[in-house]
Formats: sequence, structure tokens, C-alpha cells
Amino acid sequence: MAIEPEAGAVAAQSMLPQPCQLVIFGAPGDLSWRKLLPAVYNLNVDGVLPSHFAVVGFGLPAEGDVKGDPDEWMRNRARDGISRFSRQDLDEGHWADFARALFFVPGSFNDAGAYARLKTRLEAVDGQFGIPGSRIYYLAVPPGLVDMCVSRLKDAGMVNDPDEQIAFTRVIVEKPIGRDLDSAREVIATVSKAFAENQTYRIDHYLGKETVQNLLVLRFANSIFEPLWNGKYIDHVQITVAEEEGLAQYDPATGEMLATRAGYFEGVGALRDMVQNHMLQVLCVVAMEPPWSLAPDVVRDAKVGLLNCLRQMTPQDVEKNVVRGQYIEGDTDGKRVPGYRKEVRDAFAMMKKPLPPSSINSTTETFIALKMFIDNWRWAGVPFYLRTGKRLPKRATEVAIQFKDVPHILFNDHPEVPLEPTVLSLRVQPEEGLSMRIASKLPGPKVRIYPVKMEFNYASSFGGQTPEAYERLLLDVMAGDATLFMRRDAVESAWRFVMPILEHWEAHRARDIPEYQCGTWGPIEADRIIEPDGRQWRTL
Ligand code: BG6
Repeated sequence: MAIEPEAGAVAAQSMLPQPCQLVIFGAPGDLSWRKLLPAVYNLNVDGVLPSHFAVVGFGLPAEGDVKGDPDEWMRNRARDGISRFSRQDLDEGHWADFARALFFVPGSFNDAGAYARLKTRLEAVDGQFGIPGSRIYYLAVPPGLVDMCVSRLKDAGMVNDPDEQIAFTRVIVEKPIGRDLDSAREVIATVSKAFAENQTYRIDHYLGKETVQNLLVLRFANSIFEPLWNGKYIDHVQITVAEEEGLAQYDPATGEMLATRAGYFEGVGALRDMVQNHMLQVLCVVAMEPPWSLAPDVVRDAKVGLLNCLRQMTPQDVEKNVVRGQYIEGDTDGKRVPGYRKEVRDAFAMMKKPLPPSSINSTTETFIALKMFIDNWRWAGVPFYLRTGKRLPKRATEVAIQFKDVPHILFNDHPEVPLEPTVLSLRVQPEEGLSMRIASKLPGPKVRIYPVKMEFNYASSFGGQTPEAYERLLLDVMAGDATLFMRRDAVESAWRFVMPILEHWEAHRARDIPEYQCGTWGPIEADRIIEPDGRQWRTL
């Protein structure tokens, strides 16, 4: 039976979203269409947006896209994205309310005149909706354009004083923040020329996922876990982010490519795309020390504290403990799908750009598995195994905490058939929830032990659909709550951990990369970082 959220729920104190305009740079793009506009629509349906609120898109759509009224174009684009991707069906009443507060200003990010037009339009929308000049600029643009956007905003006088509370200006910066430590520092410095740290929200959407937030509640709102949450009781931890999709989507009937991210991903790879940010952020929530309050900087201090304890890998460690792979043609969901290199060729052909020589036999990793250690008292000696990949057999993100074996006495005195270990598995997505595998006696006269599962499932406990990560994060920015956003020192610390791996790969640029067929669990080489330890990757 679904639980009424009010019954027994203890609300954590939170700040309220304040009236503002959300200005989406790159509104014609994929992120805005798939994620941002559906997220804002859902917030509107749920009635949690500020009372005075509007969305203004900015950017240049693909040539010839805007015909007629730009605002109408934006509304059509939003409606299309919402009908396809929103967790709630499009309801005409809510849509009408939402659409009247949607606008679009076409213009190039490099054109000072476009910013002047944007400014005039924002002021007009302020007047229309009673908004006190407060703005959130969402930079949904490629990393190379961030500098231009923030500089132009500043030059146009569109950034207010950081202490301004009512007419605030905040900026949301998407990952990737740089492609290595130095370039990340440059991006951070660039943004800070226009926006103070308290105006800057570096988004990592994994932190907005309900299940990732629930990790904090699980650890710190239940008394039984924290005493066990250390190397004395935990054998190892596995974090898996498996994706079924590849970089490109093809029409199953015609084989024609419908959409692709291969142009972005090529030369970036899974280490930068998934590990440096999402996976390390999840790791922080799993392994950080208890913060002493929920104040944004206290939580963020705890995370940085953890990141600073990650053991830096030597070149030998990278050789031994890191495996990458790339998918080749195979079957996914019963359908034949092409390998990564073909997707890259198709992507460049679609963009009408020549294929860079380094991409002809690309060694960009679409899969990575690694073993890492946290050098502090709590986790000394406990291996953390991380793996992520595209075109794996299913979409599944999981954190699994495997507890140590019971001693070899009583029920565990036949080491050749040891008892299954206790595992706490936290399913981040899909089928959000958690389960605990424990040993139990099979009914009958003999003592026979059988593993059983204790289950908690979001859908059956709470009903309905879990909000999308972007919904929570956008509300937090409107409320000025930076807890779930990455502070600059966290970004730098995460890069510091990743750099030795990137540098080692760079120095020994392999001509070949281990391959795996689409629809399999990654290259066979991934086993060599876990099996010699007497452990196995979990079957999901
Ligand atoms: C993005 C990555 O940040 O996260 C993508 O760039 C990845 O490559 C995506 O597919 C995964 O997000 P989610 O929420 O679908 O697990």
C-alpha cells in the first residue's frame, strides 16, 4: 500500500523558491528539449514554482527552424519535449498556464546586440509577471561557449551584485567543467570573472536523484547502518552505472540515425563523462563522514574531505586497476546495433565535418572499470569497484555494499561452500529502492541456509513517479540552496583523482582498446581487476 507522504514524514527545513526568470542559453538544444523544459513543466503541474515566474529561451536554432513568432516556436518545441519526455502527461489546462510564461529571444551568443535585445525582453517579462529583476541563467551550451556567454552577460550589465537578495542573478554551469584539471580551473576562473561563488551553481544531475538523496537519509536517519559503515564490517563496495543506450539513436525501421551525442563524446570518454563527476559524487554520498549539519557548506566540506582522501594512482596502479573498453557491433534488445566507431563516423557526416584523423580508429572509451581506495580510518583497506558503460545489457545504476563474511564456525564451517555474504543494494535507477540480502533458514528439519531479500521499493511504498533530478535542482537554485551543487574545490579534487589515469593513457596511447559487443557487460578484461581479489562483479 502506498504511504501518504504526510504520515510520519519529517520535513527537512528548506528555503522557498523565489520569484525569477529562468533564462535558458541554448534553449534550442537537446538538454533543454529533453530535460529542462519537461522538468519545469512538471514543477508547474505540481504547483511548486514561485508565484511569479517565467522561462525565456535564448540562442540560435538550426538554420531555418524559427518560422514566424519566436515565442510560438519555443512553445512548440517545449510542447514536443514535454509530450515525449515528461514524467506527467501533457494536460491542456496546465499546458496553457505554462505556455503563457514561455518566451524566446533568437540571437547569437557572440552578438552584443542580441544581449541588448535579451535584456529588453527580460525587463518586459519582469513587468508582465511582477518579477523583481531576478534571473537564473542556465548555460546549456557547449563548454567552449561558457566564457563568451558570461563575459557578454557581464558587459551587458546583466549580472547583479552577489549580495543582492531580491533581484538576484545566479548562473547554472553544466558539466563537463573542463577536460582536465587545468582547463577546469580556467572554466572556474572564467565564470568567476562575472559571478561570485555564491551565485554559481555547478550542476551534477546525479545529486538531484531521489535515490542518491535517500542515501543520506539511509545513512544518517537510521541508527543501525552508521556503526557498520566502515572497513571493520564492510568487505567492499561496488558502484555500477550501466546504460543500455549508445551514443546514437537509429530508427529501427529504416536504420537512419535520429539523434547522436557521439560528436560530443568522441575524445571525451566515459572517465571524463561519468566517473569524474557523477560516479565520484555518488561515491562521496556513500562514503563521506557524517556532516554535522545540513547547511550547504557543511555537507560540501564533508564531500571535499572524502575526495581529498582518494588514493592517487601510480602508473602501475592504472595498469593494474583500471580497464577501459569500447563497444563494437552487437545485439541490443534483440536488434543489431552498430559499433561506436561507426556512430562517430555517422555523427561527423551528419555535422558535415571531416572526421578528425584521431577519430578514424578512435580509442575513446565507452566503458571503464576501476578499483580504488580511500585512505582514511573509516575505509582503510576497503576496495571500491566502479564500472560504467554504454550499450550494456540493461540500464541499471546501483550501489552495493557487501559486508564481510561471518567467521567460519557454526553455519559457515564448510569453506568450500561458503555462505552468501550480506549485501545491501541501493538501486538508484530504475525500479528505485533498496534490498538487503540476508541468510535465512530453509523451513524443514535440517539446517539449510538460503539467501533471501528484504525489499523497499519506492513505487510500491510511495506510489506515483519519482521527480526527475532536474526538477529538484532547479527548485534549489530558485531557493538559493547550493547544497547539491559542486563547489569549486570539489570539482578540482575530483579532477586531481582522475588526472593520473588520463596522463597514463595519454603517455601510452594504445592503438587498440579492449572491445565488447553491444549488449554485453563490457570487455572480459574488466574481470581481471576484481577476480584476483576473490570477488566478482555483481550480476544486475
Ligand atoms: C550525462 C552523460 O551527464 O549523464 C551521459 O553526459 C549519460 O553520457 C547521462 O548518458 C546519464 O544520466 P542518467 O540520468 O540517464 O543516468
